[in-house]
Amino acid sequence: MQLTAAIQNFNFDHILLNAAGVMCQTKAELDTVLASNYTGAVVTKSATPALREGNPTPRYYEMAQNLGTINSMGLPNAGFDYYMDYVSQKQTDKPIFFSIAGLSKQDNLDMLRQLEASDFDGLIELNLSCPNVPGKPQTAYDFEATEAILTEVFTFFTKPLGVKLPPYFDIVHFDMIAASLNKFPLAFVNTINSIGNGLVIDPETDTVVIKPKAGFGGLGGTIVKATALANVRALRDRLRDDIKIIGTGGVTTGRDVYDHVLCGADLVEVGSQLAVEGIGVFERLETELATILAEKGFTSLDQVRGQLKTIV
Ligand code: SIN
Repeated sequence: MQLTAAIQNFNFDHILLNAAGVMCQTKAELDTVLASNYTGAVVTKSATPALREGNPTPRYYEMAQNLGTINSMGLPNAGFDYYMDYVSQKQTDKPIFFSIAGLSKQDNLDMLRQLEASDFDGLIELNLSCPNVPGKPQTAYDFEATEAILTEVFTFFTKPLGVKLPPYFDIVHFDMIAASLNKFPLAFVNTINSIGNGLVIDPETDTVVIKPKAGFGGLGGTIVKATALANVRALRDRLRDDIKIIGTGGVTTGRDVYDHVLCGADLVEVGSQLAVEGIGVFERLETELATILAEKGFTSLDQVRGQLKTIV
């Protein structure tokens, strides 16, 4: 069974990996994801130039019945140099995605200049969609700002770069972001980040369940699957073929992975369910995916990718 993918000259022997934010903040966590026989790659926690503690706790909550999660982590990370040190020491056959999420355009440009000048030979993810830093908007909801930063980035950046996007909810917005992204030599887009600024209430106490931003936080897990699939599908339909898609959001079963691929995802990231279930999730999901493919008589994901049918 061929459960593989490629982005430019990077080959992935498995299509699953962690979503930035889960099991990727420390070197030990990154090693755990890399060591799994069922991951195709690892993505680092989105780095800021300096270490950040993130938002006050509680800042993460799992809803009952595996409905989903809400988080307002606020980009806790060990700082750009820590992840640069990790990738420069690491000997691995698996591709590494180095994710960055500066708190300003200048932060991002500075980190990208350092990545460009470094020996790092993996892929870079520019996260333009974190909803959890108080006072900082999600850049990729501002189409002009997104285009402005990418225009500046590609005056000097030559390594394989992708962007992590927030969910869009309007067909015109799908058109607008895709038209913008198609102007640049992007290697991939990652869709979706959490659905920003949801609110979950504890019915016993009538209080919000996380502390930052008075309870507002990013939604993940089961409840975001339909939105994630819509974004994967809409962007696959609109982006140039050479811009690959990483589908993220709502993956708790092999069927969810299959659905992401059906909508056009090349790779699939697991966030909430990795937090809930731990590293064993990758083996379970890949086994379930392989079973579905076998039952349908497919031998390769290439026979499924983007093949979603519509009703005529
Ligand atoms: C966070 O650290 O708040 C989550 C990361 C993200 O949404 O990009």
